[in-house]
Amino acid sequence: MNTNRITINKIQEMKVNGEPISMVTAYDYTSAKIINSTKIPIILVGDSMGNNILGYDSTIPVTVEDIIRSTKSVTAGAKKPLIVADLPFFSYQIDIKSTLLNVRRLIQEGGANAVKLEGGEQVADTVKRIVMAGVPVMGHIGLTPQSVNQLGGYKLQGKTSESAKILLNDALALQESGAFAIVLELIPSELSREITDTLKIPTIGIGAGIECDGQVQVFHDLLGLNLEFSPKHSQKYANLAATIKIALDNYDADVRKKKFPKNENSFFLK
Ligand code: KIV
Repeated sequence: MNTNRITINKIQEMKVNGEPISMVTAYDYTSAKIINSTKIPIILVGDSMGNNILGYDSTIPVTVEDIIRSTKSVTAGAKKPLIVADLPFFSYQIDIKSTLLNVRRLIQEGGANAVKLEGGEQVADTVKRIVMAGVPVMGHIGLTPQSVNQLGGYKLQGKTSESAKILLNDALALQESGAFAIVLELIPSELSREITDTLKIPTIGIGAGIECDGQVQVFHDLLGLNLEFSPKHSQKYANLAATIKIALDNYDADVRKKKFPKNENSFFLK
């Protein structure tokens, strides 16, 4: 076991100490290595890889195999952060046996330290069984992208007092089942504050305001890797798509003008 890796206990201590928790997605070795050079304590191998690297328009087609392949490369690149792997669509809904087999694969084959799954009270028993098997679980409520067809789109959740009450109950049910932290996605800040103040375990927000114990963002959104799209809940800390385009245009121009490769990039017989 790698003893330098951030543990779930450390993440929970951060809440107790009022230390904000940052988390970012990674899907590959190169980005994991860069994240490992920062102080970010949690990497999520998210099923948002469907939108960001596999070219799908949702997370629904992402498979357990996809997550395992990415988790392997992320754990190879990042030796310090806690690695949480998403359980993809329908990998935990059928029965507990197939759920535990999928969890085993993410942990044993992928090398993840914890798993994340979407849903509240309806997945509480599943969370309990996974935790009983010795695997830390991160919950995820609010906008749950795997249920986009049922939710009718990527919309703010918990806007009415009734739906807010359901989300608070969901959060409590997940805590009761042994989840070590919960992602709150796309809910009003006032509700995040209430959930965060009520729970003993950390809340990690995305589009859920400043009141959460931590924040999670998609690597590609933070770095401006999507040319066309920038979600309201994120902030571009770099504009890498534009930078990469300029670099590739320059390379293409050099090849066309026979300016690349130069002698120093070439090999000659003595
Ligand atoms: O897959 C993902 O990136 C996520 C975040 C939105 C929390 O689940």
